[in-house]
Amino acid sequence: MKPSMASASAFAVTSMAWLAVFGAVSADPKPIIETQALLCQPAFEGGPFRVTEDCVDPTYNVPVFTSETDETSPVPHRRVSGYFNGTKADFNFYLPPPELFKGRFFQHVYPIQDSNARPERVAFGAESGAYTVNVAGVGGYRADAAAAKLSRKVAAEYYLGHSGRIYGYIYGGSGGSYVTAGAMESTFGVWDGGMLLIQGIPMSNPNNWPVRALAGLFLEHQKKNIIDALAPGGSGDPFSVLSEDEQAILKEATALGIPLSSWEAFDDVGRNGMNMLGFFTPLVSGAIQARDPSYPHDFWSKPGYIGTEDSSLGDAFRNALVSFNSTVRNVVLGDGGLPVSAVLSNVPDSTSTLGLVFTIHGANFSAPVKGQLQPENNTLTIDPTSDETVLATLKEGIIVQVDNRLFLSGFALYRHQVPPVQDGYYGYDILRHPDGTPLYPQRDTLMAPLISQGASGGVLHSGNITAKVMVLQTLLDYDAWPWHADWYKRRVKTQLGDQFDNNYRLYYMENGFHYIESPQLEPPASGRVVPSGGHIEQHLLDLSDWVERGIEPPKGSEYTIDELSQVHLTPDVTRRGGIQPLATLTVGGANRTHAVVGEAVTFQLHVEAPPGTGGVVSTEWDFEGTGVYTALDFGRIGPMVETNVTHTYEKPGTFFAGVRVSSQRDSDPETPFARVWNLARMRVIVE
Ligand SMILES: *[C@@H]1O[C@H](CO)[C@@H](O)[C@H](O)[C@H]1NC(C)=O
Ligand SMILES: *[C@@H]1O[C@H](CO)[C@@H](O)[C@H](O)[C@H]1NC(C)=O
Ligand SMILES: *[C@@H]1O[C@H](CO)[C@@H](O)[C@H](O)[C@H]1NC(C)=O
Ligand SMILES: *[C@@H]1O[C@H](CO)[C@@H](O)[C@H](O)[C@H]1NC(C)=O
Ligand SMILES: *[C@@H]1O[C@H](CO)[C@@H](O)[C@H](O)[C@H]1NC(C)=O
Ligand SMILES: *[C@@H]1O[C@H](CO)[C@@H](O)[C@H](O)[C@H]1NC(C)=O
Ligand SMILES: *[C@@H]1O[C@H](CO)[C@@H](O)[C@H](O)[C@H]1NC(C)=O
Repeated sequence: MKPSMASASAFAVTSMAWLAVFGAVSADPKPIIETQALLCQPAFEGGPFRVTEDCVDPTYNVPVFTSETDETSPVPHRRVSGYFNGTKADFNFYLPPPELFKGRFFQHVYPIQDSNARPERVAFGAESGAYTVNVAGVGGYRADAAAAKLSRKVAAEYYLGHSGRIYGYIYGGSGGSYVTAGAMESTFGVWDGGMLLIQGIPMSNPNNWPVRALAGLFLEHQKKNIIDALAPGGSGDPFSVLSEDEQAILKEATALGIPLSSWEAFDDVGRNGMNMLGFFTPLVSGAIQARDPSYPHDFWSKPGYIGTEDSSLGDAFRNALVSFNSTVRNVVLGDGGLPVSAVLSNVPDSTSTLGLVFTIHGANFSAPVKGQLQPENNTLTIDPTSDETVLATLKEGIIVQVDNRLFLSGFALYRHQVPPVQDGYYGYDILRHPDGTPLYPQRDTLMAPLISQGASGGVLHSGNITAKVMVLQTLLDYDAWPWHADWYKRRVKTQLGDQFDNNYRLYYMENGFHYIESPQLEPPASGRVVPSGGHIEQHLLDLSDWVERGIEPPKGSEYTIDELSQVHLTPDVTRRGGIQPLATLTVGGANRTHAVVGEAVTFQLHVEAPPGTGGVVSTEWDFEGTGVYTALDFGRIGPMVETNVTHTYEKPGTFFAGVRVSSQRDSDPETPFARVWNLARMRVIVE
């Protein structure tokens, strides 16, 4: 469908108009309004908006500029700020001085970001000849697209000496990958390329957290053994330490997509998976209540659901069940005269407090109240956002029902949310019979695709991309799973056919997880994972070279996917593709060694960067595995580094020695930008 001419009520803003608004921050801003303009329109009734270079979005159409300032931090730039009138979409453009500008911009997106770009992004942009665009997340890509187009007009005025197209690149991770996928499938000529980081797909939410939670609940008592098998120098085979039932659950979670090796951080994957379900109730419990309210009842009462299953798994769920009624003994009122806490007559010993639902039962009514239970003193602390009329009924003598049925049923939601075979989500085969029919009863509504469409502005992840796309997926990501990016790659390949290699790259990164930016990577996590910020920067530079100068980027990752959906990179560094250096750390060729206190241990480190991706510029050591590193000399910068480093342990214990290495495309050890990290670890047992 072609965008049509707008009706008289539609507005458009010409480049003169924004100037007019610009000069009138304090006065009532009045943009010049065109009555004849191309209106951006949905692809079909109720479908995603198609945004072209020229169309005008019917919602994000009146920019109001609020300030224009010259800033010095983190690097000199002009900041232009504003918002789209009548919307929550405010934006900032960070324009480096004209002498640095090379005709491009980078735009980070995330559904709940505010309009302030991170300083390191502004600095990286300036370093790369780009201005930075940052728009508050308001859902979908339309506000981002409107701001991207507006920024070109602002930049054309600011960089008067620049001629030719200003190239634009959009990128975002996790929730931002949905926005970016939407942009890449439903905008035309707005951006010239996009990058999807730690990509989610239409089956990710609400299913991923439950998979973690269920396996975490059932396997928690085997945590030590699982960690020992997966940690460096372990057998690498956690299945061998599990019972048959436990193996089946770990296999299910693995095949669905949780990276097996990520369970080395058992609590982060499993326990925190449960916490996520408990604390972010809107995302799973909320989805159940909104879209399938009878599911919890069926889970606990019907065949085919774990709640009724005669198995060790069924027992584990019934043991975890919290369900009791208690009488209110004493109510503490707050300033407004409403209860802030209530003491209950009885709370069973060892009551788990996660995911509890509280229901007040009066003589003639029942109503939910929000709060948290402190079992140590039987106190229910009331959440002030609870319904006031309900709170007013909370008095001494009234019955409160305490229950986690909804929460626990959420753990198994994914078993009853299996997508159709033809959609290609092969990780779900573990929940299907050989003939493709699901193992367990299925619910009427498949929730995840609806949630995905909400996040991506309505697009379906068809793979029909309109600009060049790179994807960066990390191999220890237990939130956005490795095979999901391969699923999307297959879609793109089907859509683009022989144009695939000219438009798409998938890069897998080792030893990276979902929290990809440096600040989240503090000890102890920094002992196991490395940041991906430098990867992202280098990929953005490669993307812009590809678009603007036709320079072929490094080849996409070469990998295989095993029967448990695990992604394995080709071990040979010359063939594996991507940009990440490969590192191995051994003593005498092994990933495990014994030593005595005071004995010198000599580690052999081998690092090799893929061809054409620059030199190794740093090696940092963490002999005790605490996540704190010390840079040590490694000889000459080059694509390959071999070094032997000796360390003497002063105390007994089991240590996971690690060495963090980085490469840089220009072999520049000084620049903070585009450093590509990896990590090698081994076990040292000191007696
Ligand atoms: C912004 O919207 C408000 C409310 O609709 C309107 O009164 C005002 O004139 C608009 N401002 C501009 C610049 O269009
Ligand atoms: C350590 O090395 C052994 C022997 O090569 C191997 O079987 C095992 O999988 C390795 N462990 C890890 C965690 O990589
Ligand atoms: C708690 O009370 C409610 C309302 O009377 C009732 O439906 C429910 O079965 C009771 N729960 C327990 C565990 O006794
Ligand atoms: C319940 O009964 C009380 C006392 O008779 C009455 O004031 C109140 O409005 C009733 N509440 C509902 C929800 O019917
Ligand atoms: C109950 O215990 C919690 C946590 O230990 C504490 O914060 C709270 O003040 C206590 N409440 C009462 C009423 O003692
Ligand atoms: C993919 O998008 C292009 C426009 O970019 C369109 O011409 C083509 O029909 C689309 N393909 C499919 C299968 O929808
Ligand atoms: C490191 O030690 C190994 C084993 O002793 C030896 O073969 C190798 O040549 C040494 N490498 C360097 C760079 O010194």
